[in-house]
Amino acid sequence: MSGLNKIVVLGAGNIGGTLAQRLAEADLAREVVLIDIIDGLPQGKALDIQESAPIVPFATRITGTTSLDGLAGADVVVETAGLARKPGMSRSDLLEKNAGIVKSHAEAVRQKAPNAVCVVVTNPVDVMTYYFRKVSGFPSHRVFGESGTLDTARFRWFVADELHVAPRDVTGFVLGTHGDTMVPLLSLTSVAGVPLTRLLAADKLAAIVERTKKGGGEIVNLLKMGSAYYAPAASQAELVRAIAKDEHRLIPASAYLDGEFGEKDVYIGVPIVLGRNGVERVVPVELSEAERAAFHASVEAVRADLAILAKLPS
Ligand code: 2OP
Repeated sequence: MSGLNKIVVLGAGNIGGTLAQRLAEADLAREVVLIDIIDGLPQGKALDIQESAPIVPFATRITGTTSLDGLAGADVVVETAGLARKPGMSRSDLLEKNAGIVKSHAEAVRQKAPNAVCVVVTNPVDVMTYYFRKVSGFPSHRVFGESGTLDTARFRWFVADELHVAPRDVTGFVLGTHGDTMVPLLSLTSVAGVPLTRLLAADKLAAIVERTKKGGGEIVNLLKMGSAYYAPAASQAELVRAIAKDEHRLIPASAYLDGEFGEKDVYIGVPIVLGRNGVERVVPVELSEAERAAFHASVEAVRADLAILAKLPS
């Protein structure tokens, strides 16, 4: 059963195209629309994906367009548009260029899809999510960012690989910003309920934490001409599925804090419950003193980027 009528993916690059494919194959909506400014790119990718429907199979109708009119009536919008990192760049280096794109898209979404739940992916994601919400004027529960699901997936895979266990049996949370100051919470990580700290020595755990923090950069350095898109698109599809099927998933994402975790007026990665109307609630979890300090440092890193955003010409 299709949970949604229409999902719009803004940006038909590597992430947008891969995400559109995953969404179509999962049959989460009657219609998926792919939008990009490069004429032919969204139309070509959409047609290519559509032609796989008889084989996969799926029933979703997928189309591509360069017009933001394609947003009309969307239930869910995923903002993937913007530049990706190249080797040597931080996600924050993308701020200025990507802010312009996010602004024009948030304005269009406000006009054409005023009831949409919006997932922002464009980097630096915590800052772009804040900006998207501000420009759209949407309530904060209807705008959130994808970061923790991806960072946690990387963390889970590294643990699974080290322990030779099924990746899906490893659960956990990576909180904080989608950047070098992210906070993998070892105290909340387990393999099918067995605390990770009982399964892996401290030095192995420390190495996994470090690799997770630099997980995006590891792929950028390998690809040399862009950033990751398979695991990011899988993470975004997981979030859209939780919305489409009203799953009430307890999942990490970049959400607006209004006092939770002792922070206000900032978007950052925290555990949330996600359903058809977006963020149902932020789930406060007890942090150790060291985790609290690391989380606060992560919030400060986002605030530094928000200060740069505030100085950009509007
Ligand atoms: C990553 O971590 C694209 O920021 C994304 O790979």
